Amino acid sequence: MATLCQLFRAIRLLQAGRQTHCQCFYSSASDSWQAVPVQEVQRFIEECMATVGTRADHATSLANNLVTADHRGHYSHGLNRLDLYINDIESGITVSDAEPSIIRESAATAHVDGNNVLGPVVGNFSMELAIQKAKVAGVGWVAAKGSNHFGIAGWYSMLASQQGLLGMAFTNTSPLSVPTRARKATLGTNPLSLAAPARSGDEFVLDMATTTVALGKIELHDRKGIKIPNSWGVDKHGRESNDPKTVIEGGGLMMVGGSELTGGYKGYGLSMLVEVFCGILSGSTFGPDIRKWRNTDTVANLGQCFIAIDPECFAPGFSDRMSDLVKMCRMLEPAEGEEEVLVAGDPERKHIELCTRRGGIPYHPNQIQFGIDLSKKLGVKQMQTV
Ligand SMILES: NC(=O)c1ccc[n+]([C@@H]2O[C@H](COP(=O)([O-])OP(=O)(O)OC[C@H]3O[C@@H](n4cnc5c(N)ncnc54)[C@H](O)[C@@H]3O)[C@@H](O)[C@H]2O)c1
Repeated sequence: MATLCQLFRAIRLLQAGRQTHCQCFYSSASDSWQAVPVQEVQRFIEECMATVGTRADHATSLANNLVTADHRGHYSHGLNRLDLYINDIESGITVSDAEPSIIRESAATAHVDGNNVLGPVVGNFSMELAIQKAKVAGVGWVAAKGSNHFGIAGWYSMLASQQGLLGMAFTNTSPLSVPTRARKATLGTNPLSLAAPARSGDEFVLDMATTTVALGKIELHDRKGIKIPNSWGVDKHGRESNDPKTVIEGGGLMMVGGSELTGGYKGYGLSMLVEVFCGILSGSTFGPDIRKWRNTDTVANLGQCFIAIDPECFAPGFSDRMSDLVKMCRMLEPAEGEEEVLVAGDPERKHIELCTRRGGIPYHPNQIQFGIDLSKKLGVKQMQTV
């Protein structure tokens, strides 16, 4: 039973939700940014990919993931990454005339070969397989090799939660991060995601890289000529550095937690966990043997892992307890200077609300210009803003 205090807090939260933005990424979407309707971004990505020879259904799978990334406020993994996939298809290093296939399977598991098609095609195939298995066996665990960059991990975990299941997704990536006490970039940003359904369409969606930040954020600081905070990166000697250039040129990203003193070895452990589920389990390339970031001379052969779990196989009432848990956290009294306590998935939900208010996804002027340049280069109709 909610106390009077909790009720007042809930009213305050509702008011705050209407009036304010949180301090994180989605608050950066300034009023001056131009919005593009979601369907228009989807159309643009699909047409760009088709122009370089991508099959229509593969282009749609990719566009779904990239548009969802921007819609949820993860601008680093949306339109911003389109040239990466264009280069992969244009160079022929990623193919679009094949389909993923099952190498081996049991009631609850499958080993998949992505056959070097676009990552989202492999991801959708594998997660749909995991969902089918979870509905029959209670759990579906699929490990895929022969894949490519699959976009945001949360797209796949949410495919499962939309069907009342718990979903998890993982991928290995090009070596950019430096293990605790080392000096060489050896592991990727290796993201992991868990989506867990709560009541009435609410859900917990943890979707995170296992490095403190993405490389793009460090590049941005370098371009602006400003220092980076502690815990973001190391120089070529493995020493923590606040100079973005030394991190980009021969150094690497730090794992979640930062230095050994502040628990960075736990992020290192999580990154290894992702690699165990992905590269080691699937037999794909792993660790420092994965091709360098943005290299299009070598096939990526990434490893990925997709898990679906039917909560009905355990204690009844999972979504009710899930709702209680997220509510308990959201209703906490905020720390001094803060407005509200969030759970994973809330910042993204707020960004989606912002898009709805703006009639589309707001893009930074540089992103709009990137779209214009691409449309000229490929002969594709420009994105129409709202
Ligand atoms: N395919 C790839 O190679 C690759 C590699 C790295 C990252 N990614 C993707 O990039 C995206 C961004 O990753 P990221 O690590 O920069 O995300 P992030 O740091 O912005 O957010 C990570 C998680 O923290 C949650 N969160 C943020 N603020 C919070 C708060 N105040 N309270 C509670 N929870 C909060 C978010 O909801 C999210 O689940 C993800 O979608 C990830 O899958 C993909």
